[in-house]
Amino acid sequence: MTERPAGYDDHPDGVVVADETGTVVVFNRAAEQITGMSAAAVLGKELEDALPLEGLDGRAWWPCARPYDGLRSVTGHPERNLILPGGQEVLVTSRYVRQEARGPVTSVVVAVRGTRHRAREELSRAELVSTVAHELRSPLTSVKGFTATLLAKWDRFNDDQKRLMLETVNADADRVTRLITELLDIARIDSGRLTVSRQVVDIGRVVARHVAAMAARGEDPERFDVQVADGIPEMWVDADKLDQVLGNLLENAVRHGSGTVTIVVEPAGDGAAVTVTDEGEGIPDEQRDRVFTRFWRSGRRGGTGLGLYIVRGLVEAHGGQIEVGRGPGGGARFRFVLPAATPDFLD
Ligand SMILES: Nc1ncnc2c1ncn2[C@@H]1O[C@H](COP(=O)(O)OP(=O)(O)O)[C@@H](O)[C@H]1O
Ligand SMILES: [Mg+2]
Repeated sequence: MTERPAGYDDHPDGVVVADETGTVVVFNRAAEQITGMSAAAVLGKELEDALPLEGLDGRAWWPCARPYDGLRSVTGHPERNLILPGGQEVLVTSRYVRQEARGPVTSVVVAVRGTRHRAREELSRAELVSTVAHELRSPLTSVKGFTATLLAKWDRFNDDQKRLMLETVNADADRVTRLITELLDIARIDSGRLTVSRQVVDIGRVVARHVAAMAARGEDPERFDVQVADGIPEMWVDADKLDQVLGNLLENAVRHGSGTVTIVVEPAGDGAAVTVTDEGEGIPDEQRDRVFTRFWRSGRRGGTGLGLYIVRGLVEAHGGQIEVGRGPGGGARFRFVLPAATPDFLD
């Protein structure tokens, strides 16, 4: 009785098993942690006494569930939110094991899970919804305001004024589109549906292409210093996702930082590292952990605050890591490392 069946203690959920007589024979470590009861005190007791669950309405649960003397067609219960004597909420799933259909119950297996993690997830989901609604509303308010004004007073504005308003409307529409694209990326990252399709990519060339594109958009090409070291292995990465990562980091360096932006590509581990350093104000130490969270931004220069969250998701989807620190001049330094990897079909 004191010896626990192997394996149950490694189970992440609390597991309680009662035999055909309703006596508790397994009470794993997670069950001890969640309920605060020790296995020694509970093994050998009746299931009802070992795990005196109540419904949210305060009614005792086992007399309703009746695993041993209830309907023989019942095979268990899907996840329910129940309460332990101390008032602690738990999520409980149970299975009534029968050797033959409609035969007597030979054991009852109960899985117990704490609700704290889930409550936190739900909170952040609610936060996400309200932030997104807010982010969408401000550009839409501006779009609505300018179009309504133009429609009502078209003749009272000269061409320059009209152009200015339409440019604002256009930029706000772009902002809404960008936000929605980013949200879709986030949904993919959060649900693990992000797929990485690898191909051989020359990272140094990709960086040079990004710098040329920024110069074409009006940035001073002298602002960028690209250094590509020798000895970089053949890198198998998702080219589109690498573009997104570099695009975000370079845009941040230009928009949030200042001075020269130095981009170093070098071998690291069995892959390559890319470091983007600027000469701006940098990111205060106490904010380092926060820059990668959703919607975090210091608020100086508009953006959605989603860029770095997505960047980290994309780097990690490749099996890589990203970190932020400070460059020699005090500016922000972002460094990500990607494994060289192999083609998808060898993964
Ligand atoms: N190179 C940088 N220098 C200073 N601050 C930066 C830099 N890159 C990012 N940040 C800070 O991190 C925040 C989050 O960046 P990001 O997730 O890309 O959002 P966004 O660019 O939309 O504001 C930025 O708002 C900015 O405050
Ligand atoms: Mg950004």
